[in-house]
Formats: sequence, structure tokens, C-alpha cells
Amino acid sequence: MGLDIVQFLENKTILVTGATGFLAKIFVEKILRIQPNVKKMFLLIRAADEQSAACRLHEELIEKKLFDVLRQKCAPNLGSIPEKLHALPGDISSENLGLNDSYLRSEMWREIDIIVHSAATTTFDDRYDTALAINTYGAKHVAEFATRCVNIKMLLHVSTAYVCGKKSGVIPEKAFSMGETMSGSRKLDVNEEKLLSEGLISELREENASEEEITIALKKLGLQRARLHGWPNTYTLTKAMGEMMMRHHLNWNVSLAVVRPTIITSTLKEPFPGWLEGFPFRGIDNIAINYGRGKINSYIGDPDTIFDVIPVDMVVNAMIVAMAVHANQPSYMVYHVGSSMCNPLRFSDFRDFSLKYFTDNPLTDEDGKLVKVGKLILVDSMESFQKHLTQYYTLRSKEHNNSKSLHANLKRNINIAMRVAELHRPYTLFKGIFDETNTKALRATAIENGVDLESVFRFDPRYIDWEDYFQRILLPGISSAFKLKRAML
Ligand SMILES: NC(=O)c1ccc[n+]([C@@H]2O[C@H](COP(=O)([O-])OP(=O)(O)OC[C@H]3O[C@@H](n4cnc5c(N)ncnc54)[C@H](OP(=O)(O)O)[C@@H]3O)[C@@H](O)[C@H]2O)c1
Repeated sequence: MGLDIVQFLENKTILVTGATGFLAKIFVEKILRIQPNVKKMFLLIRAADEQSAACRLHEELIEKKLFDVLRQKCAPNLGSIPEKLHALPGDISSENLGLNDSYLRSEMWREIDIIVHSAATTTFDDRYDTALAINTYGAKHVAEFATRCVNIKMLLHVSTAYVCGKKSGVIPEKAFSMGETMSGSRKLDVNEEKLLSEGLISELREENASEEEITIALKKLGLQRARLHGWPNTYTLTKAMGEMMMRHHLNWNVSLAVVRPTIITSTLKEPFPGWLEGFPFRGIDNIAINYGRGKINSYIGDPDTIFDVIPVDMVVNAMIVAMAVHANQPSYMVYHVGSSMCNPLRFSDFRDFSLKYFTDNPLTDEDGKLVKVGKLILVDSMESFQKHLTQYYTLRSKEHNNSKSLHANLKRNINIAMRVAELHRPYTLFKGIFDETNTKALRATAIENGVDLESVFRFDPRYIDWEDYFQRILLPGISSAFKLKRAML
């Protein structure tokens, strides 16, 4: 059988959650660019009302540079495309996704062909109650909503490869069973976790604790529960429970593809190379920019750690191919979308590429002086990191004639760097490699069915030349986003 993905998308109605986020925005753009005759895209957006949701749709999607290629294609404006986009004020942490209009809900249950669930809180150490409500119960609400859609062809759930917890070796694309933990100790009861966080809130309120104290306690609770059950942080624990809830609450007749990307980075190719969300910088972008700005000279990490990064457009292509392959065939499959298995990038490569780039293209520091970067020192403990940072700041302060700004911010800068490094540590010292047997099989099925994986839906990481990507695309993209932001301040 042949599979024409562009034709498959024609006249389809797709519900997308998390459309104002980094990943889903690029997904929406690509769908509209390859198939302007998609019937409708319902975009669930957190907003007080329809008008504010529409406003966010324009400001955070349509008016972004990301949509320039599409704009040119449909010159002079976006033609009929905005009419295809329906911004819905909603919230996945509520039943029915917070959609209060029963008439609209019935229309959606009748019309929706595909659901792409990308919304999440991606903060590693968010409040436990918040992360549970969005990442865990949000998945449940999406599954229940999907179950009511009478014409649904498939549901695509975006998870993360790091739901694997603190594993090493080759990590399989294995689905969770309900209540499974990574520590193998006791059973994980999702409802009990929720009751625990609610109990802590009531207790603290009775003690007249301030909102700030409650937030601190709930952040701590999330990290404690994650570590108890064998996950590195609140984000990965609640995303893992989200996968469990998604499968448990979804009608078994609905096809489910769980896409687990690794660390998502700027576009490699589409709609143009180097698009990234920018501020606030996250993950590898955050490490690179702080190194380039001279905020850090060392970091916690092993030079041999494989940094599993994957350009966002490849993730989007994998999602679209999985959508088309899974539609209409009841199945449940997990896909790793990363690079560690077949095109590994080591932390030492990242360090070398960054050294070369920021030596050739230096940024300026707070005092407007060009930053001369040295080779990033990789250390294996937080104590050692703190020692290196303290020496570095003391030295820089002297070099800058005891610059007041550097001196005043010394403690603050060290504290921030330590806090971020503590959260990054499970990733920068990670010892696993993500198996991609299912993802390879997905590519093979697509090729057998005539899908153009070369120029339209490429998601084979073997095609990435890391040095070229870092020097010509990722690092310049991060630098310009930083300069732009600085110019606006
Ligand atoms: N970025 C990565 O490196 C990475 C790696 C692996 C997996 N992932 C997964 O990929 C997906 C997308 O990530 P991303 O990087 O695009 O995240 P992101 O930029 O932080 O975007 C998250 C999106 O979720 C929305 N959202 C959060 N809470 C919501 C709620 N209660 N109701 C409705 N919408 C809500 C946010 O809306 P607001 O704009 O209102 O905040 C935003 O649109 C997530 O599921 C994440 O776990 C990401």
C-alpha cells in the first residue's frame, strides 16, 4: 500500500495542545505549509477567554518569524490559513480540557480526526501539585476527551525519553505498566501522590504558611517523591505517570503513539535553519550561552557522556509520520526520537564546538568587554564545580579591576549556576543510550510505502553533521537570540 501523508492530512481536523510551546508551534507551521487544505486545527491555549486565546495565537504563533516561510508561500498574507486555526481558551489540568461550551465540545467530539498532545510543564522542579495537574492528570483528561471523539483516527502523546529515570546502557522503547517505578521498590499510586500534595497544602495552610513557603515545600516534595521512586526530578516522574494515565484512560480502540524525544534543539532545516524559542534559554542552549557570556568556565559533566540532542524539525517529522502510519490501525507504540544510538554526540564534542565558536565570535560581558572563553572544564561533583566557579569569579573580578557589578553579583551568579547545574546533572552525567528499534521500523514502514523521508519528512539523525550544526546553526542562533534580547532590554 502507498502512503501519501500530504493527502492523508487533507480535510483532517486536528486538536493540538501546547501550541504556544516550542515544539507544537513548529508542528502547526509544518502541517499548514505542507497541507494548507487541512480542514481545521483546534489549538488549545491557556487564556481567560476566546479573545485572549486568539490574541496569543497571533502574537505567539502567526506573527513570529517562524511563520515567514509560510507567509511568503501564501503571499502577500497567510491567505485563508488563519481561518483554519481555532484558538480555544482551555486548560488540560481541568476535566474536558477546561472547555466550558458544551456545543463546541460536541462539535469537537464529532469532528476531530487526530489529537496531538504536547502541552506540559517542562520545569524540572515545578511544584508537585502543578506538575501532577498538568503532566499527569492533563494526560488523563486528554485521553478521556479522545475517548469521546467518535471519528478519531489516532492520538499522539509527546512524552520525553528521560521517563526512563536514572538508567544506563541501552534503554528500550518500552511502555509503562500502571504503577511501575524505576526504583523497583514499592508501587506507585498516582492518586496517592495527588492526595499527598493536597495534604501538604492543607497542613501548611492550617499553619498559616505563606504562598512562598507553600511553593518551596511543594517543589521539595516533588523532588523527594521523584527520587524515592527512581526518577531524577519532578518533571520526569510526572511525565512517566502521564504516560501511564494516558494508556489507562484511553479507549483501547484508539491508536496511540507515544513519541519520546530526547533534548530538543533548534531547527536543522525547516522552515529555516536555527529557529529556537530563545529566552528563557533551556538545557543545552542555557549551558552554551552562559559559557559564551563568561558566566561559567566549568560545568558538571563527563566528557564521554553522550548528549542526546535532536533538532526540533526532526521531532516534528517523526510525529507526522507516526500520525499517518498509526491512523486507522489500533495500536500502541513508543518511539524514541533522539540521536544517541546512531549518531552520538559527546559532551566533549559540544565543549570543543562551543570553544571554537565563541573564540571566533565572542560575546560581551556585563561591562561590555569581549569575553575570551577558555576550554570548558568538566567536573564530576558539585563541590568541585563550586570551587572552580568561585576561583573563576574571583579572578575575573580582579581582571576587571574589581568591577563592582561582577563583585556584587558574585554570590548570586554562583548560586544561580549551582542551582541550574544541580538540575542538569542527571543529564550531563547520563550514561544511557536510547534504543530506536521502533523508530527505525517506523522509518522502514514509511519508506516501503513511498513516503519521502529524504526531503519532506527526514528524521534520521545519521544525516546530522554535528560540527556543522553547532558552528553554523545552533550556536549562531543562540547568540543572535541573546543579542536581540539584550538589545531590547
Ligand atoms: N523541549 C525539550 O527539549 C523536550 C524534550 C523532550 C520532550 N519534550 C516534551 O515535548 C512537549 C513540548 O515541549 P516544549 O519544549 O514545546 O514545551 P514548552 O515550550 O514549555 O511548551 C509547553 C506548552 O504547554 C502549554 N501548557 C502548559 N500547561 C498547560 C495547561 N495546563 N493547559 C494547556 N496548556 C498548557 C504551555 O502553554 P503556556 O504558553 O500557556 O505556558 C505551552 O504551550 C512536552 O510534552 C515536553 O515534555 C520537550
